[in-house]
Amino acid sequence: MPSAPMPSADSWWQSAAIYQLYVRSFADGNGDGIGDLAGVRAHLPYLAALGIDAIWFNPWYPSPMADAGYDISDYRSIDPVFGTLAEADALIAEAHAHGIKIIIDVVPNHGSDQHPWFLAALAAGPGSAERSRFWFRPGRGDHGELPPNNWQSIFGGPAWTRVTEADGSPGEWYLHLFAPEQPDFNWASPDVRLEFEDVLRFWFARGVDGIRIDSAALLCKDASLPDVTGAEPPGPAHPYTDRDDVHLIYQSWRAIADSYSASQHGGRMLIGEIWLPDAARLARYVGPGELHTVFNFPYLNCPWDAGALREVIDQTLALSAGAPATWVLSNHDVDRVVSRYGRADTSFDLERRPYFHAFPVDLPLGTRRARAAALLTMALPGSVYIYQGEELGLWEVQDIPDELRQDPIWARTHGADPGRDGCRVPLPWSGMEPPFGFSPFGAAADPWLPQPKDWRDLTVSASSGNPDSMLTLYRDALRIRRSSPELGDGPMTWQPTADGVLAFDRAPHGAGGLRCVANLSAAPVALPANAALLLSSGPLSGGLLPPDTTAWLRLG
Ligand code: GLC
Ligand code: CA
Repeated sequence: MPSAPMPSADSWWQSAAIYQLYVRSFADGNGDGIGDLAGVRAHLPYLAALGIDAIWFNPWYPSPMADAGYDISDYRSIDPVFGTLAEADALIAEAHAHGIKIIIDVVPNHGSDQHPWFLAALAAGPGSAERSRFWFRPGRGDHGELPPNNWQSIFGGPAWTRVTEADGSPGEWYLHLFAPEQPDFNWASPDVRLEFEDVLRFWFARGVDGIRIDSAALLCKDASLPDVTGAEPPGPAHPYTDRDDVHLIYQSWRAIADSYSASQHGGRMLIGEIWLPDAARLARYVGPGELHTVFNFPYLNCPWDAGALREVIDQTLALSAGAPATWVLSNHDVDRVVSRYGRADTSFDLERRPYFHAFPVDLPLGTRRARAAALLTMALPGSVYIYQGEELGLWEVQDIPDELRQDPIWARTHGADPGRDGCRVPLPWSGMEPPFGFSPFGAAADPWLPQPKDWRDLTVSASSGNPDSMLTLYRDALRIRRSSPELGDGPMTWQPTADGVLAFDRAPHGAGGLRCVANLSAAPVALPANAALLLSSGPLSGGLLPPDTTAWLRLG
């Protein structure tokens, strides 16, 4: 098979197709109902055959799992439920042997309340050096009974929790922008900076090719910890979102990544998770000497609408400042794309999940659009992220019984927000009923979240060799993308079209090349006469491209 169209081996991320692997839900090797590294290793041939260039692993470190591993108690090891460090080493080597790069998740904004530093901070008491690595403050009110300020946790409820001091008295409060089990680190502390630089070196030295930086815009806080009014835009004046200091951190991280990039393994990459509505501020993170790429969430949030998508695509390309664009349709925090596109409102916004869940979902329509979106996305310039299960066409599981829900968002909002469990349900691999090959035959436990019975039609076995399956579409598209030098990073040119249609060419020098036509209008459209159809997300009808269908064409 021809290799990926990469500008240079050192900057593989510019064109890569990256598979987001949520370990807990990928494949369970030992039958405890939870995905693990043994399960991943057993299925590496599946990923190689899918045609991806890299895997991004959600956090795999030791963790009390108050937020599915985003509460890390040891940044240099593997949680026993997932396996061992030796297995991770073997997995990295095996993936490399398949030509697959490894990206891991690093969570610098907060640790676990069971991290040794936090336990030491609790024991050492107010005013200690140990507490200065976090945000401990006395409370307000006559007896310190009120939180130090009015900040709210992103998961609901106050962003402060009061501790009990060693002598049993009610004590200081500590800051957690997420769950109470996730105390925020104080990035003004040199200990914190040095520790994370060392963590980066630890994993780069083990052969990891990239780092996904969690909550990357939240690290730096205004040390006066002022109340928020809610009107502060992200930026220098915001108490904790997108403050200027954060760029200094990423400049030093970039220097570390670059220092490993000279090795025989090729370039090491940094990608930031940054939810900023302002594209210009987002672009700062990929300025010279900083992150290589950032996630493109405006694209994910965009409704299935030609005008809106074109605007997001243009903004993304205009502002990427020499950094390759990334295209993401889904991840472990958002509703699955098949369900989003099957609702009357096809946009998405993390903060309004209950609003979106109130819509009925037209699954055949959502699936049809998700197929069209997959071809549109994979034709755009830059790299593409595929969240596990997207390639099977899995939908958002909205009817998980309350008592089985695990996401802290559910509990912290007292059920007002269903949370993210519905996009984290274990993958169906084979068979006619749960666990669908997720766990081995005779497993001791059920999958950690229940799988819908109707996923029997979407298993990897049922999808393989089925010409109409989502899996076949993803395999075909990734194969063509990889073997077409026009795709991946490079120029694109919009073509004139009817309203509601997106058409663009991917060709280095005008003539020839590849055209992508996505029909988001209500009427079928004609395709150019001098072109051969390479792939379409659905059948043509009388030579026309039907609504909610995308085609890739080779221009004559
Ligand atoms: C990021 C992760 C999310 C996690 C949160 C706190 O947004 O993607 O899953 O809950 O950070 O670490
Ligand atoms: Ca397991």
